[in-house]
Amino acid sequence: MVDVASQKIDMAVDLGGIRMRNPVTVASGTFGYGQEYAGLVDVTRLGAITVKGIRLGEWAGNPLPRHVEVPGGMLNAIGLQGPGVEGFAREYMPFLRSTGVPVIVNIWGTDENEYAEVARRLSDVEGVSGLELNISCPNVKEGGNAFGTDPRTVAALVAAVRRATKLPLIPKLAPNVPDIKVFVRAAQDAGADALSMINTLPAMAIDIESKRPILANKVGGLSGSAIHPVAVKLVWEAAKVAQVPILAMGGIMGPEQAIEFMLAGAAAVAVGTANFIDPSVSLRVIDGIEAYMRRHGMGSLRELTGAVVCD
Ligand SMILES: Cc1cc2nc3c(=O)[nH]c(=O)nc-3n(C[C@H](O)[C@H](O)[C@H](O)COP(=O)(O)O)c2cc1C
Repeated sequence: MVDVASQKIDMAVDLGGIRMRNPVTVASGTFGYGQEYAGLVDVTRLGAITVKGIRLGEWAGNPLPRHVEVPGGMLNAIGLQGPGVEGFAREYMPFLRSTGVPVIVNIWGTDENEYAEVARRLSDVEGVSGLELNISCPNVKEGGNAFGTDPRTVAALVAAVRRATKLPLIPKLAPNVPDIKVFVRAAQDAGADALSMINTLPAMAIDIESKRPILANKVGGLSGSAIHPVAVKLVWEAAKVAQVPILAMGGIMGPEQAIEFMLAGAAAVAVGTANFIDPSVSLRVIDGIEAYMRRHGMGSLRELTGAVVCD
C-alpha cells in the first residue's frame, strides 16, 4: 500500500479499446442520448455515454403503460423505441461528438444480419467509440433475450457483428441463464472486446384490484436496487473466466454498489435506474470511487478491479 493521500489517482480505464477517463458510464435506456440530461448534469465528466438501443430503422416500442415502480426498483417494457441508425446519426451524434466523451451505442436487431448491418453503418459514423450488443432485452418478441440465452446463438451473433466492424464490441449478456461462464466464453471466443452485464431480469406486476398485469406488455424487466446482489454474483462468476474487461451494472444507487462491482471483477460500471431519481448520481459515483481508492491507498483502478477477498 502506497501513501496516495496527496497523489493524483489514475482513474483511467481501457474498456476493450475504449479509452475512458474514469470507469463510470450510464446504462443504456436510462440516459436517453445524452443531450436530454445535458442541462441537468455535466455530461463531459462521464467516462463514456451509453445511448438507448438502436436498430436499423425507426421503432415505436411497446404500448403504454410501459413502466411501473415496484418495491426495490422498477419494471419497464419500453420495447426499444428508437430513431434508427440514420435518425440517431443525424439528430443525436452532433451533440454527443461535442462532449468529447466516448460514445457507446447500444444496438439490436431482429436477426443476425440486422445486427451486422447496424454495426457496419455505425462504423462509418464519426464519433462512435464502441458498440454494446443488446442480446438480452426481455421486452421485445423480435430479438433480445431469445438470442442471449443460447450460447450457440450468442457465439454466432457476436462473430457476425465482429466480421462487420472494427469498432470495440461489448455483448450485453443475459442474466437469466444457468451458468454465466458458458456465455462469457462463447462471447469472448467469438471476438468480444469487453462484456457488459446485467440487463434487466424478466418480471411481472399485477394490479390486484383490476386483476390485470400493470404493463401493457404484461411482462417487463426488473431494474434497480432489487437486482444488485444478483448482478454482483454474476459479475464475480464471469470474472473468473473473462479474459476481456467487464462493464457491470444493476442497481447502482451510489458509489458503494459501483465499488462492490469493481471488487467483484468489473473494470467499469454503468449507472441506470438511479438516473431517474438523481440525474447527477453518476458524478457522485465517480467522486466516491476516487475517495474510496484514496482511503484504501490505491493509485490505479488495477488495484481495485477483482480485489475481493474470498478466503
Ligand atoms: C427504462 C429502461 C430502458 C432500458 N433500455 C435498454 C436498452 O435500450 N438497451 C439495453 O441493453 N438495456 C436497456 N435497459 C437496461 C439497462 O441498461 C440496465 O442494464 C439495467 O436497467 C440494470 O441497471 P440498473 O439496475 O442500474 O437500472 C433499460 C433499462 C431501463 C430501466
